[in-house]
Amino acid sequence: MNRLSGKVAIVTGASAGIGRATAKLFAREGAKLVVGARRKEELDALVKEIEAEGGEAIALAGDVRSEDYAKGLVQLAAEHFGKLDIAFNNAGILGEAGPTTGVSEAGWNDAIAINLTGSFLAAKHQIAQMLKNGGGSVIFTSTFVGYSFAFPGVAAYAASKSGIIGLTQALAAEYGQENVRVNAILPGAVDTAMYRDMNNTAESRAFITSLHALKRVATPEELARSVLYLASDDSSFVTGTASLVDGGASITRT
Ligand SMILES: NC(=O)c1ccc[n+]([C@@H]2O[C@H](COP(=O)([O-])OP(=O)(O)OC[C@H]3O[C@@H](n4cnc5c(N)ncnc54)[C@H](OP(=O)(O)O)[C@@H]3O)[C@@H](O)[C@H]2O)c1
Repeated sequence: MNRLSGKVAIVTGASAGIGRATAKLFAREGAKLVVGARRKEELDALVKEIEAEGGEAIALAGDVRSEDYAKGLVQLAAEHFGKLDIAFNNAGILGEAGPTTGVSEAGWNDAIAINLTGSFLAAKHQIAQMLKNGGGSVIFTSTFVGYSFAFPGVAAYAASKSGIIGLTQALAAEYGQENVRVNAILPGAVDTAMYRDMNNTAESRAFITSLHALKRVATPEELARSVLYLASDDSSFVTGTASLVDGGASITRT
């Protein structure tokens, strides 16, 4: 408890899955939150749940493709809570899947715009604010796909998410001396809407499960605990990492 006491955090992709679980854990650990995603009703319900547990949160609905939205989230944190210490840039989509020879340019651009450009726009404004208040911790959600594991049919997703790892390293090198830490978390399969949409048969879920050394997929709450580590001062000497939280998928050959 209270590992984020006195901290102010932005969490994107907070309407569902990993982002929602992380926002709730951050609030329980004492952070004041600005939560974002496109679906306002889900965000409002999350804020109510956080408040019911004695936490503080405000929501701003919008699309991470918009630079104004990235700015708006940071402004809200600064105006409402006075600063920004932590940003979990987690909003993401799988994008257009299927054989790459058939992927449209629009589908490709969408994955890059949301997953990669959205991460850049977010960090650009978050880090500017963090520099005003003495530093902070930025965490991006990447994935094992396109890093230590390759699947056919997800080229746009893999490219956009591995681009985040380059962004992480560049920002960590650029702002380390100003006390801004930047890390990427690389989940294996996590039981969320994205996972269930992608694996909608018992057969495909069994296949994905078998790829992990732990022979199961993660819960969103398990990911949230790893994000908490990167957000908190427990990871004060950790920056520029591609941090696998993949149940051993990357080392499993059996
Ligand atoms: N589940 C897995 O197995 C897995 C594995 C590795 C990495 N990941 C990554 O984990 C992150 C979270 O995904 P999840 O598994 O928790 O799936 P999810 O339940 O589908 O959550 C995705 C979140 O991103 C938000 N989002 C998507 N597009 C957005 C946009 N254009 N603007 C603003 N928000 C947007 C969604 O909110 P709205 O729809 O309300 O906008 C939602 O809150 C993603 O980046 C995903 O790539 C997931």
